[in-house]
Amino acid sequence: MGSASGKAILFGEHAVVYGRPAIATAIDRGVHTEARPAERDLLSVRGETEQTIPDDAETDERLNQAFDRVLALYPDTRSAARVDLRVELPGGAGLGCSAAMGVAVIAALDELYGVVRSAGQRAEASLAWERVFHGNPSGIDSMVSALGGMLFFRKGKTAISINPKVTLPVVIAHTGIASSTREMIDSVARQRTQDAERVERVFDGIESIVSNGRLAIEAGDLRAVGQLMDLNHSLLSSLMLSTVEIEELVGTARAHGALGAKLTGAGGGGSIVALARDEAHAHTICDALAQKSRFAFVTAAGAPSTTSERVSV
Ligand code: PMV
Repeated sequence: MGSASGKAILFGEHAVVYGRPAIATAIDRGVHTEARPAERDLLSVRGETEQTIPDDAETDERLNQAFDRVLALYPDTRSAARVDLRVELPGGAGLGCSAAMGVAVIAALDELYGVVRSAGQRAEASLAWERVFHGNPSGIDSMVSALGGMLFFRKGKTAISINPKVTLPVVIAHTGIASSTREMIDSVARQRTQDAERVERVFDGIESIVSNGRLAIEAGDLRAVGQLMDLNHSLLSSLMLSTVEIEELVGTARAHGALGAKLTGAGGGGSIVALARDEAHAHTICDALAQKSRFAFVTAAGAPSTTSERVSV
């Protein structure tokens, strides 16, 4: 058996692809797997939520290609394996679904074939899977998925665990629109080719938000964390990563007293993350977001948590 968590990026998405730092937290929804010997190699994916994994030929092809890349990490002499995946996250939601699948598949295959790997090595190995979906991933999704907790991450550097002074009561809501991380990364890359100075200035701003965000999280200053989330959202919007649907969810969270709200992950659809004053307030915000979102839940970032799901009809 293997399992891996999804994640939410609190600060620093996109800039992290270019070597800037980011902060991400594991969420208590993820992917569970089981691998067993079989006649031939087979990957079977079962989604637990509506719109978990698109049921189309392109997704099937990508999943099979990613599975082949991961199998190639094991010796040629290995026996065939059937891997069953149970996925609790919607794909294309900015919640690290593909990375969690990769980490969980490797965890299950390692167990089947008796391979011993640290969590960091597992994250590294799972990039073979993640590259099929993302092209040029920073690795933050895989790292958080494999290590859990809250991480201060910089591409190519050791990830640092952050210990929040208080648990962050956050709400996550999915716009219902799947976004392609690869396309959003490409869009930022095009903007950078056209106007490197502007985009680097935005990344400078994001980098200082990440540093201050870390200090605010460690000091337990929720108001400051929220303000920094709002600022980070504005900078991401200036890179054309927000959408009408994202703005509607961010606006709803703020109208219900969220201390801050921003898109999380690649943008262009996907999800938002909002910070509440406390858990009861998080449920109030979640109820409001559930009216406009197909998938909203409360999760405690930086501590073991209980999750409650709201699915609108
Ligand atoms: O939308 P997600 O979960 O794939 O998050 C992507 C975060 C990016 O910074 C946009 C890409 C990356 O690899 O870090």
